[in-house]
Amino acid sequence: MNIIEAIENRRSIRTFKPDPIPDGILEKIIKTAGRSPSYTNTQPWEIAVVRGKTRDDLSRNLYNAASSDTPITPDIPKPSTWPEELDRRSKEHGERRFKVLGIERDDAVKRKDLRLQNFKFYGAPAVLFIFIDKGLSEWSVMDIGMFAQSIMITALEYGLGTCPQAVLTNYPRIVKRHLNIPESKRLALGISIGYPDNEALINSYRSARVEIEKFTSWY
Ligand SMILES: Cc1cc2nc3c(=O)[nH]c(=O)nc-3n(C[C@H](O)[C@H](O)[C@H](O)COP(=O)(O)O)c2cc1C
Repeated sequence: MNIIEAIENRRSIRTFKPDPIPDGILEKIIKTAGRSPSYTNTQPWEIAVVRGKTRDDLSRNLYNAASSDTPITPDIPKPSTWPEELDRRSKEHGERRFKVLGIERDDAVKRKDLRLQNFKFYGAPAVLFIFIDKGLSEWSVMDIGMFAQSIMITALEYGLGTCPQAVLTNYPRIVKRHLNIPESKRLALGISIGYPDNEALINSYRSARVEIEKFTSWY
């Protein structure tokens, strides 16, 4: 797979096979992603690889918190509002995803259930949590984004799929308690990783993109 194919083919996977990832592969992916650029080569990312019993216990705890509507306390706050155009894209993404699954607009139960699947890591055998030190600025959050994309692109080389998940940062205290991470770290992102279940309907969903004219100016 060449670079352009990898970037164009990557998509968020929302149903994984339970098959474990053979030893050594995640290490190789993380090593490659460690070559990502960062502000003055600070490499601010810290990553926790979570599998097995820890994965299962953490999933159960996060699922329970989310399903009982425990108030969220993400270390990186979510915007309270989005600019109109971005809000429209976000809503359109949600609606198109529900449509693929045949979930009706007013079916609150199925919609909530779909959202809760996030906390089961969509069935992935492993989940990666990325942390950064609390004293760092937006520049380091930018570095995290590059690191995360490198992980997701490199994973494709090994036949693995990924889903970056902001909702996995909703309850940072639970995650840090399970992983023994100090409060001085901010939980920046969770990424579920595993072998995609290509039979799953949800994985047939291909997200839309705006035309480049919408976001490009030429001089
Ligand atoms: C920072 C970030 C947070 C995201 N959070 C979630 C999430 O919590 N749950 C989820 O299912 N997808 C999440 N996504 C995936 C986006 O919905 C997805 O990237 C977008 O719709 C484009 O689709 P694609 O990744 O298939 O190209 C997130 C993506 C990013 C980059």
